[in-house]
Amino acid sequence: MTSTFILGIESSCDETAAAVVRSGEETISNVVASQIATHQPYGGVVPELASREHLRAIVPVVRQALAEANRTYESLDALAVTQGPGLAGALLVGISYAKALAFALEKPLIAVNHLEGHIHAVLLEERQKGNRELQFPVLALVVSGGHTHLYLAKQHGPNWSYENIGHTRDDAAGEAFDKVAKLLGLGYPGGPVIDKLAPHGDARAVKFPPSQIKHSDRKTPSREAQSAETRGGRARTPVTPQSHSRFDFSYSGIKTAVLRYVETHNMARSIDERRRGLAEVGKASLEDYLANCDEQTLDLIASFQRAMVDDLVSKTLAAARQRHVATLFVTGGVAANNELRRTFEQEAAKEGLPVYFPSRPLSTDNAAMIAAAAYLKFLAKDFAAMDFSAEAGMALK
Ligand code: KG4
Ligand code: ZN
Repeated sequence: MTSTFILGIESSCDETAAAVVRSGEETISNVVASQIATHQPYGGVVPELASREHLRAIVPVVRQALAEANRTYESLDALAVTQGPGLAGALLVGISYAKALAFALEKPLIAVNHLEGHIHAVLLEERQKGNRELQFPVLALVVSGGHTHLYLAKQHGPNWSYENIGHTRDDAAGEAFDKVAKLLGLGYPGGPVIDKLAPHGDARAVKFPPSQIKHSDRKTPSREAQSAETRGGRARTPVTPQSHSRFDFSYSGIKTAVLRYVETHNMARSIDERRRGLAEVGKASLEDYLANCDEQTLDLIASFQRAMVDDLVSKTLAAARQRHVATLFVTGGVAANNELRRTFEQEAAKEGLPVYFPSRPLSTDNAAMIAAAAYLKFLAKDFAAMDFSAEAGMALK
């Protein structure tokens, strides 16, 4: 079979990314320009700054992806770009550039849902390893800074369809990691720092009550569904009111519980000292973080991470049991978390359920996943009309 080379472009949040993928199964190049340094002083993504940084990075990032793939623009079969969900201004940078490039090169352009991209990151790498045996239905937990969604994925011929069977009612899991890290003076983004520090604390030290979702509001549209507005700098995916949200998540409560713990245990001064200490260091290593954290803080971090992991794993497995799924995918930025991976592997093995994660570079935002998701659309000739625009609250169906 002839090879198909697709250039993927991703700019939905705070990473400008471009990649060349062959036939949805081999990453030829994968370039990611992170904006972490830009947003770090603000403790979260600032949408206006994100757009400006995408504008700066998009041309060199795409050029680098082509150069590393050792391919010319003319040799591409198609271009693919993230349409949504994400920050509208950020998405528009990638979309405008992809449209201009596709028009000039007279190549087809494919619009991709970012969440489908995260799911296809798993498939791309499994195909790359030679694993083509995938049992359906697949349950995919997409867990990142902007999303905590459970999708039941089914295959219809070459096409996939998705049913959302759970979502967060308030904060996404990655957002909780980021907010707790900020609260504790650990900087941004919080997930990777908490991941590294948690093994140094006692996860049994602080008890967090399991998040509770009231039955009475299960049938009503969530706050997410009512508004596709960005909160905390990240765009949310609307969930259709008719979806049966049986496996919902809620992470604003645990963030408040950490805040209350900090207040009642008079930790404000030590947090201030840590913030100043780490600011003086600049790019902090694990040793720097440890030197600036007392035992009480490390215990709190470990307990927080354990509570998050237990909740994500238990709800996902409950959904898998109820919907009789054959395979589990865990993907998105938080899927890079070591304890989450370990716990999923242990608990899924008890149920005889295979669980797949992307490698860490493909867990967080990247464009290889966008080019991989575009491949099936390329085969189906599902090309975007040139007047399509960004969809900040794009749902996955
Ligand atoms: O998928 P992603 O790059 O962007 C979004 O689509 O949101 O995910 C970024 C999120 C951030 O909240 C970050 O703190 C979290 O993923 N994250 C982690 C880890 N690495 C990144 N959370 C927990 N443990 C990690 N190792
Ligand atoms: Zn993402």
